[in-house]
Amino acid sequence: MGFDHGAGGATGTAGAGGATGTAPRLRLSIVGTGYLGATHAVCMSELGFDVLGMDVDDGKIARLAAGEVPFYEPGLEPLLRKGLDSGRLRFTTSYAEAAAFADVHFLCVGTPQKDGEYAADLSAVDAAIDGLLPLLSRPCLLVGKSTVPAGTTDRLAGRVAVEAPAVELAWNPEFLREGFAITDTMRPDRLVFGVASAAAEETLRQVYASAISAGTPVVSCDFATAELVKVAANAFLATKISFINAMAEVCEATGADVIALSKALSYDDRIGGRFLHAGLGFGGGCLPKDIRAFMARAGELGVDQALSFLKEVDAINMRRRARMVDLAAELVGGSFGGMKVAVLGAAFKPNSDDIRDSPALDVAATIQRRGAAVAVYDPMAMEQARVKYPQLGYRDCALSAVKGADLVLHLTEWPEFREADPAALGEVVAERRIVDGRNALDASRWRAAGWVYRALGRP
Ligand code: UDX
Repeated sequence: MGFDHGAGGATGTAGAGGATGTAPRLRLSIVGTGYLGATHAVCMSELGFDVLGMDVDDGKIARLAAGEVPFYEPGLEPLLRKGLDSGRLRFTTSYAEAAAFADVHFLCVGTPQKDGEYAADLSAVDAAIDGLLPLLSRPCLLVGKSTVPAGTTDRLAGRVAVEAPAVELAWNPEFLREGFAITDTMRPDRLVFGVASAAAEETLRQVYASAISAGTPVVSCDFATAELVKVAANAFLATKISFINAMAEVCEATGADVIALSKALSYDDRIGGRFLHAGLGFGGGCLPKDIRAFMARAGELGVDQALSFLKEVDAINMRRRARMVDLAAELVGGSFGGMKVAVLGAAFKPNSDDIRDSPALDVAATIQRRGAAVAVYDPMAMEQARVKYPQLGYRDCALSAVKGADLVLHLTEWPEFREADPAALGEVVAERRIVDGRNALDASRWRAAGWVYRALGRP
């Protein structure tokens, strides 16, 4: 199909996205304004595009339209306000408005794990397509960014061909990391375009002209490859983390030190040091559910054996949480009954308020179930944690969380915990015992302040 998706009906003079002179600039709609969509919308408006963010959640849209980011992402709120003030960024709950507005529609809705299954729940993707497709009457490009199982784009392209023949579909997976969402969107390390025509690729090149001119490489490929790049990348990262955590298990059995081991491995350029940090393992809204959905899809495709190692990757990851609970129990004499445990960290990683599949809260809830009184503190994720885990106690600072504690667990490596003064915390605890679940604290400093310091994978 050789559509001209460019700027149909749009007006304007700027050269956003690489258009020059008086050529009208592309207008973009972003359907789904969660983590990915809100960031994409804000960043695209910062790049000079006219952007309309659309979501069916009117509460979320009202907050975004008022200049408030509904989640924590460093630097995003000022850019959101700048976009709103410039008039280039607006928000709506109307599919019709989005359909009428844009030349390129980005699909950024969530694809969580299905309840009680490994497979991805595509109902939000299908609902967005149902909402938008009948309203798309002029040529435009519909670009999926959500993480979907291989084969989804082909299936949706079949629908597009029948229901909205003026529309072309592309898939452009997103690799942004929470906490670095703006940099990862503005200067991605690669762009992957799953396209079926040169025109679609050209339109995407216009959208991403600024990153491309700054040197970001582009891989243009078929739909299935584009879909697979995303899940393969996350499977690789998860495997790397679980590899070093498997080594941590072996270190625990031999008296070796996984931190020194990992450092020594990292000097081999072929291995590299990133994502080789041993600890409580991975969580969040992506890695765990993506590897599970990948396994489920492989099963449907009859190649489950190819990915059976991911089952082990998942199991190693979950075993770290169990090991943390065992180590904690060991330190309090075998039983949590009557014990006070302080948990430092609730978010699945620092610089985020995201508690989806958070290893920290998983451990905290298990210990609470086993009889301990648990007091949690996190610099950003308190509100979310309270809603999901009302059975846990919450304190408004680290000092108050550790007050009277028989044991302190460091489970999310916020800089504030790294910098905390072990002597000051030692003054208020009942017992100076800490388990560093993230291998991020300076062991010698804590030991010098009289603490029993234990960590995963270290003597
Ligand atoms: C991840 C991918 O990195 C990103 O490319 C994709 O788009 C979405 O999923 P994110 O979930 O934001 O991003 O977090 P990431 O920084 O990758 O960390 C994932 C988890 O792995 C965290 O729980 C983190 O604590 C853990 N981790 C990471 C380790 O345990 N060890 C490491 O060495 C690195």
